[in-house]
Amino acid sequence: MELSQLPFSQACENNQRPILSILAPKLTNSLHLLEVGSGTGQHATFFASQFSHLTWQASDQHCNLDHINCRIKHFNLPNLPAAIALDINQTWPIHRYDAVFTANTLHIINRELVEIFFTGVARITTTNAHLLIYGPFNYQKRYTSDSNAHFDLWLKERDPQSGIRDIEWIEALANAQQFELIEDVSMPANNRLLHFIKR
Ligand SMILES: C[S@@+](CC[C@H](N)C(=O)[O-])C[C@H]1O[C@@H](n2cnc3c(N)ncnc32)[C@H](O)[C@@H]1O
Repeated sequence: MELSQLPFSQACENNQRPILSILAPKLTNSLHLLEVGSGTGQHATFFASQFSHLTWQASDQHCNLDHINCRIKHFNLPNLPAAIALDINQTWPIHRYDAVFTANTLHIINRELVEIFFTGVARITTTNAHLLIYGPFNYQKRYTSDSNAHFDLWLKERDPQSGIRDIEWIEALANAQQFELIEDVSMPANNRLLHFIKR
């Protein structure tokens, strides 16, 4: 299939360079990164092309793998293997990773799956692993912008169990799995990039 026929996200195009500038100094020593919820696969192909020193393992639910793998095949990068099936609720890899990246997933999945996400990540990561989470978050139960408030309404109309998560809850879930919040970076379009390290 032609690249132009594959699912495409303009948001991914817009946010990949700002995300790159934050990830680059953090991932200099990482070798095996797992991406959870790769979506269109645009982040995977872009970041793998920028981080030639590490293997970028894309993943998503089984139903999304065909188009992600079409994109991956098209780019044909030595450090970007085919995406694997990873359903947060069911299947986690048996490999160990020293970095995990996920973008725009924690407000899509339900609260129970958010909890399972952190236990799953803890199981498949090494000590000192980086956990990098990109997306919108609330602070002290407040939206950080009107656009995030509207986005949350839109999310909940589609799926009442989805929604922008509270940073305090996310940090508590991470801490319970020995991940410490090292940095919380403000990103364009009222998003954040949370950087945790496993102790
Ligand atoms: C809003 S999209 C974000 C995609 C991409 N990371 C991005 O930033 O454009 C949410 C992603 O989460 C994935 N997802 C939803 N439920 C999931 C689950 N139970 N396990 C794994 N991935 C899931 C979807 O398939 C989708 O790729």
